[in-house]
Amino acid sequence: MSKAEEKPRRNIISRRVNSIPPSGIRKFFDLIATSKDILSLSIGEPDFVTPWHIRDAGMRSLEEGRTSYTSNSGMIELREEVVRYLKLHHGVSYDPASEILITVGTSEALDLFARAILDPGDEMAIPDPYYVAYPANIVLSGGVPLRIPTREENNFVVKASDIEARVTARTKAILIGYPSNPTGAVASRRELEDIALLAEKDDLLVVSDEIYARLVYGMEYTSFPSLPGMKERTVLIGGLSKSHAMTGWRIGYVAARQEIIQAVTKIHQYTMLSAPTMAQMAAIEALRNGDEDVKQMDQEYNRRRRTIVKGLREIGLTCFEPRGAFYAFPSINITGMTSEEFSERLIEEEKVAVVPGSAFGECGEGFVRCSYAASLSSIEEALRRMGRFVERYRKG
Ligand SMILES: Cc1ncc(COP(=O)(O)O)c(C=O)c1O
Repeated sequence: MSKAEEKPRRNIISRRVNSIPPSGIRKFFDLIATSKDILSLSIGEPDFVTPWHIRDAGMRSLEEGRTSYTSNSGMIELREEVVRYLKLHHGVSYDPASEILITVGTSEALDLFARAILDPGDEMAIPDPYYVAYPANIVLSGGVPLRIPTREENNFVVKASDIEARVTARTKAILIGYPSNPTGAVASRRELEDIALLAEKDDLLVVSDEIYARLVYGMEYTSFPSLPGMKERTVLIGGLSKSHAMTGWRIGYVAARQEIIQAVTKIHQYTMLSAPTMAQMAAIEALRNGDEDVKQMDQEYNRRRRTIVKGLREIGLTCFEPRGAFYAFPSINITGMTSEEFSERLIEEEKVAVVPGSAFGECGEGFVRCSYAASLSSIEEALRRMGRFVERYRKG
């Protein structure tokens, strides 16, 4: 054995990266990839193709030879469209020149924000169950996720009193995401007002991930920064992936007061430079002329939502009524299985894929996430198979 081979190997992966688990969703997708003929209720993206006129705008931008970087902040025309859209659908006004940054998906916006505000050891509160990227972004930024439990009896909406009970001197921000992935919960105006009062009292910043804002069914939607006095305190994060069926285009945005936009832009200009130009051109078209498409997709999701919730209840699973996004989050308690066991066996025995609730945090245990971004016929067949499965394993 040569000398070089005897030397202990240097641990080249950082402690920070080693400390985060691989996404529980990905692990599950790998399992699905190895089985054939799976009916999937596990996908977290629209099953619609981006509407034609939006694709066409992307293609036209290539034909016109628009292949260079844009301004770091994103094209001013797109920022103006985002501002118009936020005024119309979120009821809040921003300045396109100084209060908007166009990002590579909402994912980049979430990462930038955590890096811009957290010093080592600073805490950010996140309601549990959470979107898988939230704690990872916080940890990768040197921060500490402060997990706030939520419960089915409160429709999985975080209570301000539960946040208040856990906040410490190191807590800098609260990260909320309504409508929620994975539960489909939507917070009411009243519930958000309670969070606003707490943010004011404890001088906390609120990051509101409103990527599913356009997919809300049968209730009024309140955008957090539209609450009195909250615009200055809120970092609004959004994107076109879900509303306009544009996941692959990678367009998101951050809207916040100038000081925060300057900080996130500093990181963005060194890491991304600018969001893809072709995608920005398509996003302008989506925001200008895509409202009818959004409404149609929304109606279709709502139809599927009613079918899946009714179906899950009929096969004996309790399921609170999701009011947004495209997820139902039924309890699987009557089977006595863990959510991972349930999901693995359901794939093996009935070839239906759902995601174990435990992938989204401790409070997700005992539940599974069923996405209804799938055709009505797939949903109906998946429900038949799940019905057989639950019947086999129902306790007592
Ligand atoms: C709550 C939530 N935020 C952010 C994202 C990331 O979206 P984007 O495609 O804009 O990066 C997702 C995607 O699933 C999500 O569910």
